[in-house]
Amino acid sequence: MGGGSKRRRGPRHLSQTVRLDRRSLWTLNAVPGRAVYGESLRRFQGQEYRRWEPHRSKLAAAMLRTKDDPAFLLPEPGTTILYLGAGHGTSVSHLHDHLCGEQNRLGGRLVSVDLAPRCLRDLTFLAEVRPGLVPVLGDARKHAGWGVLVPRKVDWLFQDVAQAGQVDIFIAACKRFLAPNGTGLLSLKAASERWTGEGEAALFAEVESALNGASLRVIESIELTGYEDNHRLFVVEGMEA
Ligand SMILES: C[S@@+](CC[C@H](N)C(=O)[O-])C[C@H]1O[C@@H](n2cnc3c(N)ncnc32)[C@H](O)[C@@H]1O
Repeated sequence: MGGGSKRRRGPRHLSQTVRLDRRSLWTLNAVPGRAVYGESLRRFQGQEYRRWEPHRSKLAAAMLRTKDDPAFLLPEPGTTILYLGAGHGTSVSHLHDHLCGEQNRLGGRLVSVDLAPRCLRDLTFLAEVRPGLVPVLGDARKHAGWGVLVPRKVDWLFQDVAQAGQVDIFIAACKRFLAPNGTGLLSLKAASERWTGEGEAALFAEVESALNGASLRVIESIELTGYEDNHRLFVVEGMEA
């Protein structure tokens, strides 16, 4: 591509709260003075940011790898989003910085579902200082247990459950919860699939066709190897059922 001179190389804002500084991502800390998982803190123009580690967060890795504008992978601040497989809250905490901000000044709501009680314990501690974060002990496959917390369709849904059947779980969640034109992100761990076929490339192609066949439009499939080996992040757009 010849347009190198037009490209911005310096630090830039992906949103009011997310900065890209060379190859590192930073979010404006909603709880100043506190790190969540040992990440560095740094001030830019008098405000404290947390480094969003791409080796610890597949969303951050995907933002550094996407061929599109990384801002397209972020939800709109102040909206309601659904995150399946929230873990201990690493990525969720950065999303919270972006979606809600300090004392939830932006009015976001981040419904964070995980199956593991020890993850819920950590998410609950986080939620105490991060209003807008809603921890849910639940199974991503069983909407009946928690779906009531997401009464309207959302414009942004993320799934990272790293278990067998990830694609079917994601398709079912998108059908129920993702708004038409909303963004769905599926982090796929190849090793979690019972796959006896032709290797990862064929698996990923099969996943893409399953997503397309389920009324989801695949926009991009982002290779995460190097940050998370054997992982790929599929970016889809919800369509009218
Ligand atoms: C790789 S970790 C998530 C890491 C997290 N997304 C992050 O970036 O910080 C996968 C998580 O999915 C959860 N999980 C696995 N199966 C699940 C299911 N059926 N429903 C909800 N959570 C599930 C696990 O308990 C685990 O915490």
